Amino acid sequence: MTETVLVTGGAGYIGSHMTLSLLEAGIQVVVLDNLCNSTAESLRRIERICGKAPVFIQGDIRNNAILDNIFTEHRIDAVLHFAGLKAVGESVQKPLDYYSNNVAGSLNLYQAMARAGVFHLVFSSSATVYGEPEQMPISENAPIGTPTNPYGRSKLMVEELLKDLAHSDPRWSIALLRYFNPIGAHESGLIGEDPNGIPNNLLPYISQVSIGKLKELAVFGNDYSTRDGTGIRDYIHVVDLADGHLKALQAISTQSGIHVWNLGTGTGYSVLEMIKAFEHASGVPVPYRIAPRRPGDIAECWADPSKAARELGWQAKRGLEEMMLDTWRWQSGNPQGYME
Ligand code: NAD
Ligand code: WQD
Repeated sequence: MTETVLVTGGAGYIGSHMTLSLLEAGIQVVVLDNLCNSTAESLRRIERICGKAPVFIQGDIRNNAILDNIFTEHRIDAVLHFAGLKAVGESVQKPLDYYSNNVAGSLNLYQAMARAGVFHLVFSSSATVYGEPEQMPISENAPIGTPTNPYGRSKLMVEELLKDLAHSDPRWSIALLRYFNPIGAHESGLIGEDPNGIPNNLLPYISQVSIGKLKELAVFGNDYSTRDGTGIRDYIHVVDLADGHLKALQAISTQSGIHVWNLGTGTGYSVLEMIKAFEHASGVPVPYRIAPRRPGDIAECWADPSKAARELGWQAKRGLEEMMLDTWRWQSGNPQGYME
């Protein structure tokens, strides 16, 4: 049985929702986060929501002394590894930072796990590893593609490393979870996505336009061969995503080897459909203009989530309306994010 887990990056967007879900499920959580893209306020909010708090250690996954200390002080059963950098554009400018945090950091963590005899791991991968897939929906059998940027390559490298690791030693039990596009926030409106500076992703951008923090959304291209010409993605509620991790954690506690699961809904929406759905949920207009395509973007991407349904008994429950309402509740209640 899983009693205590280490969540790296647990103060961040997905990690904070995960930490809350784990605590609610009665699992003890140790969070390791260097707060380079988050604040400890997210952890205080978690305590407000569920009355329980994780143990928090501020530190870097590249620091061996901190890692060894965590594994000595706590009886960790499994690690959920979210820590890393995730801005695609920035990764092109600062590849060394991305390979250092995402690849060297992951390697360091796995070495510390092996030293401590902890072999259960859930890794945050991404649909970006499929590159530009030929067929929709994308199943786990689809060939791995060629990511167009260092961020994507860092995820692919860690996936490959983990496959080698699992094949080298049967004690390892690893879930590679390939996320599609996580959005939304916890229904309390107390935790959510709080990007530094100008957001790169669609939903944070839309929501910051809606509260007047940004002037208008640039829609990156309306000449794709999609139903309305704009890009189509599989947006998944972050709380559904956290539920998927709980199921994956359960699965790897009883079976070894490496397992790949897509976490998506199986439904794609276009950028214009997302704008409309957000306006409907919030009652606030979102001004936008059509802009050129963003380099590296693909036309469409949505998951075949049937493997996770079959093997984990998991499927996303929350629809677009709920994703938008929860995003709006978080953004309108916290216009400055965690900075009150
Ligand atoms: P996030 O930036 O909100 O969270 C990442 C957390 O890791 C932050 O709190 C940051 O401070 C911390 N961190 C970064 N480098 C660290 C280091 N070296 N040591 C310790 N802590 C460190 O991002 P998120 O959206 O919550 O993403 C979590 C994970 O999921 C990432 O690995 C990301 O690549 C992956 N992912 C995210 C998405 C997405 O769209 N959000 C999609 C697919 C995969
Ligand atoms: C969604 C759609 C844009 C912003 C990225 C990473 C991927 C994963 C998730 C981590 C696209 C359009 C966006 C804007 C727009 N991250 N858009 N105006 O590109 O699917 O995926 O985040 O693993 O690796 O690449 O997500 O939210 O940036 O874009 O028109 O201001 O919205 O062109 O069609 P994407 P996104």
